[in-house]
Amino acid sequence: MCGIVGYIGNQDTTNFLLDGLKELEYRGYDSAGIALLNDEKIDVFKALGKLENLKEKISKSTLGEYHIGIGHTRWATHGKPTELNAHPHLGEYSYVVHNGIIENYKELKEELIADGHNFVSQTDTEVIVHLFENYENKLENSTEAFKNTIQRLEGAFSILLISKADPSKIFFFKHGSPLIIARGKEEKEVLFSSSDAPLIGLANDVVYLEDGVGGVASTAGIEFFSDDYSWSTLPTSKQFAQKDGFRFFMEKEIYEQSDVVSDCMLGRLNDDEILFDEIDASVFDGIKEIKICACGTSYHAGLTSAYLFERLSKIKCNVEIASEFRYKEPLLTKDTLFIVISQSGETADTLEALKMAKKAGLKSIVVCNVDNSSMTRTADYTILTRAGIEKGVASTKAFSTQAVVLWMLALYIAKAKNVIDTNILQNEIHALREVPSSLMVADKMHEKAKRLSKRYLHGHGFFFIGRDVFFPLALEGALKLKEISYLHAEGYPAGEMKHGPIALADPELFTIALMPENLLYDKIKSNVEELSARDSTICAISPLDFELADDFIKTQKTDHYMLEFFEMLVVLQLLSMEISIRLGNDVDMPRNLAKSVTVE
Ligand code: M6R
Repeated sequence: MCGIVGYIGNQDTTNFLLDGLKELEYRGYDSAGIALLNDEKIDVFKALGKLENLKEKISKSTLGEYHIGIGHTRWATHGKPTELNAHPHLGEYSYVVHNGIIENYKELKEELIADGHNFVSQTDTEVIVHLFENYENKLENSTEAFKNTIQRLEGAFSILLISKADPSKIFFFKHGSPLIIARGKEEKEVLFSSSDAPLIGLANDVVYLEDGVGGVASTAGIEFFSDDYSWSTLPTSKQFAQKDGFRFFMEKEIYEQSDVVSDCMLGRLNDDEILFDEIDASVFDGIKEIKICACGTSYHAGLTSAYLFERLSKIKCNVEIASEFRYKEPLLTKDTLFIVISQSGETADTLEALKMAKKAGLKSIVVCNVDNSSMTRTADYTILTRAGIEKGVASTKAFSTQAVVLWMLALYIAKAKNVIDTNILQNEIHALREVPSSLMVADKMHEKAKRLSKRYLHGHGFFFIGRDVFFPLALEGALKLKEISYLHAEGYPAGEMKHGPIALADPELFTIALMPENLLYDKIKSNVEELSARDSTICAISPLDFELADDFIKTQKTDHYMLEFFEMLVVLQLLSMEISIRLGNDVDMPRNLAKSVTVE
C-alpha cells in the first residue's frame, strides 16, 4: 500500500513529486523518498517518518534543475522502516520505486550477488534495480534490459525506474498494484501516480494501466510495450479521488479486502507449506499453549483463530480481552506462546499485556498492521498483516488480514509440529488461495444489503448468532453495527440463545443468523428455528435456502467453511455500513470513537 509518483517535463519536478506524495501519504508513511535526474547526475533524498521530514531535508539542500523524477511513500512490508529501506532504491547508476511484493526476490538476490552485485537494504525491491543493471550491462539497451527484468519478476509490482544509462526516460510497468500514466496539461509533460489524487488539476487524459502493461516515457512521448491500454478522462474532485470513487473510506476498505489479503499471502503460501520468513521456527520449541490478547475487532480475530489453533495445530489456545487480562493477576508460564493482535500496534491495553508477558519471560509474537509501532518494537517477532493504512474507524480489512495471518500461522505450527495430514494441509492451502475471491464484493450482494438496510432501522435490538468460528464472526458483525449505526446489537453463540436471551424474542428482535453449509449447519438451523417459533424476525445468511427466514442473503457454495466465513464477513460489513448511511451517521468517524485507543 505504498504510493508512487513520477514526473517528466519542464515544470518544477521536485514540487510535483512532493505535492503528489502528500496526496498519497494517507496510504502509508513510514518513510518517503525522491530521485531527481538531469543529464549529469541523479540526486536522491530520503527520510524516515512523515513527508514533512523529507521536505525539511530537501529545503536544506542545494537543488539542481531536473526534468525527470520519481518518488515514493512507503508502508513497510519487507524490511524495517529505515532510511536504507526507503525507496527509491539504487543499483550503480539507476533508481527504482516499487509498490507490491517481489515473491521470488530471494532467488534473484542470490543470483545477483553471485554476479557481483552489492545489496544495501533488506527490501525485496532492491533486486529490481540490480536485475535491470545486470541486463543493461550485458545488452547496453535500457528498454530491452527493462523488458527482461519484468519478465523475471514474480509477485505484485508496479514500478517506475530511471537510469543514467538512458537519462531522458522513465520505464514503467504495472502488475498487481495500481499505476496511472497521464499526459500533463503542459507541453511534453508525462505524469505518473499510483492513484488519481496527485494528478487532479494537472492532467486531463490518463491511462489506468492494466496488469501486464508497461512501457517507456520521455518528453518525446509514451511508448507502450503492448496495445492493451486506453485513455480516459480524469475525475475532477480530490476527495472523491482519495476514496477511489467510494462514498466512505470504510466502503473503499471493504472493497479493498480481496487485494490486501492477496498482498498478505504473497510469498507466504507454497504448494505444501506456509512460510513466515519473519519468525524463527524455534519459537515454538517447548511451547504447550498459546495465549492471545487483543481488543475489539482484533480480539474477534483472536477468538476465530483459537478454533483453528486447536483444530489444526492441536495446541491449547485461549484468548483474553487485553483490558481484563491486565488486572486479573494472570498465571503465566514459559511454555506459553503469547500472541497479541493489533491493527495499530498502539492500543494501550494490548501493549501493556504484551509487556507483562515479556516481563514474565514468555516468547511473544505480534500480528500487526503497522511496522515500527510500539508493539512491533516490543514483541520478539512481528507478522505484518499488510492491509495498508486503514482510515475508517470501523475496522474491516485489518480484520480479514488478521484472520488470514492467524489461519496461516495455525497451519505453520501444525506442519512444524507434524500434526497435520498432508492432504488436509494441501486442502487448507487450496482454500487459503480462494480467500481473495470470497472477499470480492459482488454488485448483487451490495445491492441486497442496501435494500435490506431500510427494513432494520427500528426494533429493540439485533442478535447476531453463529457457531464455532461463526460465533466470533457474529460478535464482529454486532460490533460493526453498534459502532456506526448506534443501534443495540449483540453477538451470541447460537446454541446459547435458549439459555436466556431467547426470552427477548419477538417480531421487533432482529436475528442475523450465520448459517454456513460446511460447519454445523443442522445445529444452527435448529437454533434459528427455535427463534423463528418465538416470532423473532430472521435475516438468514447462507448458501442454502431457508424457508423460515423473513429475509435471506444467499452466499456462494464453497467446500470450506472459512471461505463462507470471509464472504459472510463482507455481507455483515456492508449491511452495517448501509444501515449507518441510511441513518445519516458519519460512517468513517462515528461518534465517541477513536481509531487508535492509546489510553487505558
Ligand atoms: O489497533 P487495534 O487493533 O489494537 O484496535 C483494537 C480496537 O480498538 C479496534 O479493533 C476497535 O474495536 C475498532 N473500532 C473496531 O472496528
